[in-house]
Amino acid sequence: MQCVTSAPTAPDTAPADFLSPHHYAGMRRPFLDAETMPPWCYTSEAFFRVEVERLFMKVWNFIGRADRIPNPGDFFAFDFVGVPLIVARGKDGQVRAFSNSCRHRGSIIAEGEGNCRAFKCPYHSWAYDLDGTLIGTPDMDKTRDFDRKDYGLVPVRLETWAGFMFINFDRDAEPLSAFLGDLPPMLASHGMDGFVTVRRKVYDLACNWKVYVENAMESYHVPYVHKSTLQRQKGPPSGPLPTRGQYVALYKEHEGSRALLAGETGFPYIASLDGAARKGSFYPLIYPSTMFCATYDCMWWLELHPISAARTRLIVGSAFPRSTAERSDFGDVIQRYYKRWDVSIPEDNVISELQQRGLSSPMAVPGRLSHLEPLVHAIDNWIVDRVLGDRATSAVYDPIKEAAD
Ligand code: FES
Ligand SMILES: [Fe+2]
Repeated sequence: MQCVTSAPTAPDTAPADFLSPHHYAGMRRPFLDAETMPPWCYTSEAFFRVEVERLFMKVWNFIGRADRIPNPGDFFAFDFVGVPLIVARGKDGQVRAFSNSCRHRGSIIAEGEGNCRAFKCPYHSWAYDLDGTLIGTPDMDKTRDFDRKDYGLVPVRLETWAGFMFINFDRDAEPLSAFLGDLPPMLASHGMDGFVTVRRKVYDLACNWKVYVENAMESYHVPYVHKSTLQRQKGPPSGPLPTRGQYVALYKEHEGSRALLAGETGFPYIASLDGAARKGSFYPLIYPSTMFCATYDCMWWLELHPISAARTRLIVGSAFPRSTAERSDFGDVIQRYYKRWDVSIPEDNVISELQQRGLSSPMAVPGRLSHLEPLVHAIDNWIVDRVLGDRATSAVYDPIKEAAD
């Protein structure tokens, strides 16, 4: 007789009734009275699946700059929260996103990135135009009531702002411009639609996506985690800005580009900067998981692709004005910028993975927040509002008011 054994399935780290609001009462209190998020929010696959369903499948998710695929036929394929996707530039110059799943029997159609005239499924060779139209179907002539026009690739909404691409799985979602609110005017004087991406660096992290977002949106850790790198940057402490739209933002006044280590000099400042943009840098978090920094001479972004409760892909992109990228000294001077990112980002990666290990302990319990972490509280409450699907129970939270209290 054959004996069939299976590995025991580890119990999920969240309680069975984890969508019950009473579990979150501590983090719903006003900021300086509040606890941190329950540890299972960072470790539970059940919690993560609800985040995917209620956050990532509903919002505008940032997927990089359109200059990654500058020419007709350029494409890239990737998975976002478990959904295989293709992003391609059509013959008409338009960038589109599709489900990367064949309309015959569902195979992945394209992998990696490149340039092509059409997508051909590797299984039975159905072919799709760059706009998703089904154009080739061998041996389908005897199939009754089959019309190719009914079997194009399933489209995913894609909209751009200033060259930044966002996708949305929800056909009923508001347009990207409504989602971004007053973020585009806040950053208008940087002229980012004229920027070019000069580097895109990918890290695979053993941490929950929220661990990384929280870290990026608080300055409390900077003198400790970045003690020999960023802490010497001077100026008044950063603080949250009033915002209208699905984002929060920190702003910091300072001397010199935030994309350089202390004492380094780099490229000329962007000539069109005005108002607050001439005196400091903006650090918006576009909900739920995209961080930008817009400083005097460039911008960089932290793009997160949540993979599971404890795995996240981080993409760090750097973009400069075209006039800067075309300078004859660009190749030399840019190394100073790369040095800054290549020391500070691994420091955040290491501490985020350490935090994840600690949060994964069965002994982990909620903590408390410093006055330097108002956005950690704001962001986590925004997330729980949506995970619970009951925004009526949310603490009405205003990070500006709370910072002033
Ligand atoms: S699954 Fe794509 S052609 Fe058959
Ligand atoms: Fe940091």
